[in-house]
Parts: sequence; structure tokens; C-alpha cells
Amino acid sequence: MSKKVLIAGGAGFIGSNFIRHTKEVHPDWELIVFDVLTYAGNLENLEGVEYKFINGDIADEKAVEQAFETHKPEYVVNFAAETHVDRSILGPKVFLRTNVEGTQNLLESAKKHKVERYLQISTDEVYGDLGDNSNDFFREDTPLDPNCPYAASKAAADIFVRSYYETYKLPILITRCTNNYGPYQFPEKLIPFFIFRALNNETLPLYGDGKNIRDWLFVRDHARAILSVLERGAIGEVYNIGGHNEKTNIEIAEILLEKLGKSKDLITFIKDRKAHDRRYAMDALKIKKELGWTPEFPFEVWIDETIEWYLSNKKWVENCAKKAEDFYQQNLQNR
Ligand code: NAD
Ligand code: DAU
Repeated sequence: MSKKVLIAGGAGFIGSNFIRHTKEVHPDWELIVFDVLTYAGNLENLEGVEYKFINGDIADEKAVEQAFETHKPEYVVNFAAETHVDRSILGPKVFLRTNVEGTQNLLESAKKHKVERYLQISTDEVYGDLGDNSNDFFREDTPLDPNCPYAASKAAADIFVRSYYETYKLPILITRCTNNYGPYQFPEKLIPFFIFRALNNETLPLYGDGKNIRDWLFVRDHARAILSVLERGAIGEVYNIGGHNEKTNIEIAEILLEKLGKSKDLITFIKDRKAHDRRYAMDALKIKKELGWTPEFPFEVWIDETIEWYLSNKKWVENCAKKAEDFYQQNLQNR
């Protein structure tokens, strides 16, 4: 049955990939993108896709309410957020505003308009750090223990979402995913940033000893998981999403340099990120058991496709990079 879906933050990396996937699976669904187009939001990410667009800020209560009043969405998916850890260390305030206050505005309108399903897109970072040499995995019942301001704001948002279920019986769902890679990722995150730097023969700055571990999932697999949870997830539940594809940051740097035909001498080690979590890894058994989701896009294949996409979209990358010049400078100075 056709659905009207309000997608906050749909012009960003994961939101736009989710929209492309959803339109393929459900061409008849009406998708309303609500996005303020920060440095990370870009309507070029949605070129060729059919959707309605509202240029609005989730932290603006009136703008949010107006969007619900006008479009009366049945489903809401909230991708909208400030998402970069390094930016949150340099300036945490906007993370509180967008990620926490913005989420609460969406919850309030979702409650008032009695939406059928509200899905909050969250992250493994809310669980904190698994530490070194650990065979542990984050489970849905792992206590929240965020370390950086970005993670703290996402955890606070998750707790608000849960509270609207407990208090008002708002039909909420939460997904928490590991690190994504793929087309349309802003070149401030590890993989596209390193591709961009390597292509310009610039050094690849690894934080600390470069041995921090992340679990990498192709963005299209994340999109598949989100759509499954949106349609079939049990109300009030959290679902972890992960790829069982753990790599150290040095491994990622070496893979990229080899595939791009660049020297490993480009790797440099710089002062560590503050509160740098050592390892994230997900136990994603619940979504597998309940919804039958498992990753379908192997890293070995889709990292090549991802590199190819960045090579074919140099203009897109350069335009993004221009918007991030001040940030790059601030983040890397004196390290
Ligand atoms: P992104 O930074 O690429 O995009 C964020 C989008 O939100 C942009 O389009 C931006 O314009 C929009 N936005 C920001 N502030 C807004 C506001 N106040 N009002 C309306 N729109 C606003 O982010 P992403 O990497 O696509 O992440 C999407 C979501 O997924 C986030 O909630 C993030 O926490 C979560 N997540 C990301 C990853 C990852 O690896 N990138 C992994 C797990 C979870
Ligand atoms: O785990 C999910 C999270 O993944 C999402 O919630 C965040 O929105 C997303 O940004 C990402 O956070 P990370 O901090 O893990 O991603 P980032 O790409 O910034 O960094 C990945 C790892 O690489 C991390 O250990 C820091 C390191 N790094 C990153 C950059 C940009 C470097 O060593 N050098 C760099 O220049």
C-alpha cells in the first residue's frame, strides 16, 4: 500500500541513498524530504529521483509543525543530524540544537499528528567504546555510554525517542548502525577524505597509532535494513545494524592507496582525536532473526565501486571540499 513518508535529512549521504533504494522498491510511495541543506546536504545527491522538497530546519518547531500539517505523513524517518565527530569536538553546541532539540520537535509533531511509525536513525557510537583486543560486540541492551559530543547528542536523542514511546505510546523504532561507506559521502569522513587526499597526492593523516577499528557497511545495505525496520520492525524496539567487516584505519588507508596506485609513504600519523573510541562492532543478530536482514554487498567489491564513483564525480567532491576548507584547516592545525 502506498505510504507518505517524511524524510528529515534526506539530502545527506545515507538519507539520499535510502531514498533511491526506497523509490526502487516502492515507486508509488510519496517521499517528502525535509532538509535545511547544511554543508553536508546537497540536492545533487537526489538528482533523477522523484520527491517533494521542504527547505526546513528540524530545530525550528514551527517549520516542523507546518510540514506535518501540510503533508500529513504516515511514516517519519529522521536522518537529520550534525554527523561529524571532529566537528563536534571543535563546536558541540549545534549538535545539541539539531540532534536533540530537532529530534524532540519531530517527536512532538509526530505525536500530534498520530503518525503510524517514527524511525530514528542512530549510531553504534551511542554505546561507547569496546576497547582493545576485545571479542565483544554491542548488543541492543548494551548500556549507552557515549564519549564525544556527537555521540552524546545521538544518545540523548535516542533516550528522548524511547521516552515518547513509554510516555505517549508514540509508535517509535530506533536503528543503530556501524560506519557506512559509499557514494555521496561528504569528504570529511575517513574513506572519501582519504580518496580525495590521495588523488591530490596529499598525506593521509591517521589519528594516533591508526589502529582504531571500525566495522564498515556499504550504505545500500544500511538503506535495505532501514526500510525493513520501517515496514516490519516491532514498535518500541531498537535494531543494531552491522557488517562484521572490521578494519583498522591503517588497513583502510593501505587498501585505498593500493587501489589508487599511490605510495604508502603518503600515510602520516598525527596527534590523536580527543576521546577517540578504539573499537566499534555490532551484534546484528536481532535484525537477522526478526526481519531476515543480512548484508548483501561485500566490502571487497563495493569499495571498488565506491572508489570508482568518487573518480567519476570529482566535481561533486571538489564542491564539497570547498565548503569544508575552514574545517580541514582547523581540524588539522597543530597536529
Ligand atoms: P550527513 O551529514 O551526510 O547528512 C546529514 C543531513 O542532515 C544533511 O542533508 C543535512 O543538510 C541535514 N541536516 C543537518 N542539520 C539539519 C537540520 N537542523 N534540519 C534539517 N536537516 C538538517 O549524514 P549521514 O552520514 O547521512 O548520517 C545520517 C544519519 O545516520 C545521522 O543521523 C547519523 O547520526 C546516522 N549514522 C551515520 C553513519 C555514518 O557512517 N555516516 C552511521 C550510523 C548512523
Ligand atoms: O560508527 C558510526 C559513525 O561513523 C557515525 O555515527 C558518524 O556519523 C560517522 O561520521 C562515523 O564516525 P567515525 O568517527 O567512526 O568516522 P570518521 O570517518 O570520522 O573516522 C573513522 C575513523 O578514522 C576514526 O577512528 C577516526 C579515523 N580518522 C578519521 C579521519 C577523518 C583518521 O584517522 N583520520 C582522519 O582524517
